[in-house]
Amino acid sequence: MGAMSTYEFSTPARTLIDGSAIPQLGLGTWKLAGEHAYRVVREALEIGYRHIDTATLYDNEEVVGKAINDAIKAGEVSRDDLFITSKVWNDEQGTAGVNKAFNRSLDALGLDYLDLYLIHWPCASQGLYKETFEAMAKIQGLGHVQSIGVANFYPEVLRDLVSGTGITPAVNQVELHPGFSQPELRALHDEMGIITEAWAPLAKGELLTHPKIVAIAQAHEVPASVIILRWLVQLGCVAIPKSAHRDRLISNLDIHGVTLSEAEISTMLSIDEEPGMGRKYGDPLVFGNQS
Ligand SMILES: NC(=O)c1ccc[n+]([C@@H]2O[C@H](COP(=O)([O-])OP(=O)(O)OC[C@H]3O[C@@H](n4cnc5c(N)ncnc54)[C@H](OP(=O)(O)O)[C@@H]3O)[C@@H](O)[C@H]2O)c1
Repeated sequence: MGAMSTYEFSTPARTLIDGSAIPQLGLGTWKLAGEHAYRVVREALEIGYRHIDTATLYDNEEVVGKAINDAIKAGEVSRDDLFITSKVWNDEQGTAGVNKAFNRSLDALGLDYLDLYLIHWPCASQGLYKETFEAMAKIQGLGHVQSIGVANFYPEVLRDLVSGTGITPAVNQVELHPGFSQPELRALHDEMGIITEAWAPLAKGELLTHPKIVAIAQAHEVPASVIILRWLVQLGCVAIPKSAHRDRLISNLDIHGVTLSEAEISTMLSIDEEPGMGRKYGDPLVFGNQS
């Protein structure tokens, strides 16, 4: 209830292993800061976004939280309708660090609870992700966070986390976009009951002129960005595109008029095989693992 948007977007949701629902489209907030971040988050909530992704690293939790709380106070949205994620940064892994980081995030956001809290990178060489995740499970047990998960976990650390703690993360937020659709990791997530969340779902805008995507977009008479986001949703993923532009915020949420055929989904998947495709950004085997 409570949503007073000019738009009528009903974002599809997935059910997490703990029974909570996660909207399949959300707003990424990396690189958004200050008044600018405030305006974008207020605008996104007004348009109909109900899922916002931030992190300690993004240094914008205070302003993101202010936008959320002002929208709640203005009666535009209710807290119950929102899904808010934050993440513990690499240098605060471990029990004491994550407890401190979580409380600081909650304070900065001005919220009583988070919907999802993630380990931002495994940083396997630190050897702390299991301890960190167990501490997060205790925070969850106290009711301060609905769901706990991870980001940038690859199969080896994912299996080690689950076998070592006995706890399955609700999501794994990983780089995933056309050209890097991560079929093996998605299959492992399905086996383990983990929801796949795509970061950089639009490959930061780099693939919007790809001929195969443009051809599908032209056939459906929608922007290429809509095709990518619709494809991710049909694959069962959650996607958190970031945009600072109102028209893009609207079109990124407006994926409902399109259904991709199996053939179109396969065409999108086939982009993985093209030269120059693959992971574009940080490799978790390397990033956060340097000694
Ligand atoms: N867990 C992690 O390690 C991790 C890592 C990276 C990102 N993330 C999360 O994932 C979110 C999304 O990733 P991202 O921001 O790196 O990349 P992204 O969402 O794939 O792409 C964002 C870029 O695409 C442009 N864009 C957005 N919508 C567009 C549209 N409809 N048409 C044309 N261009 C469009 C944006 O420009 P404008 O803003 O100018 O519109 C921006 O430059 C982040 O904001 C963050 O919340 C998580």
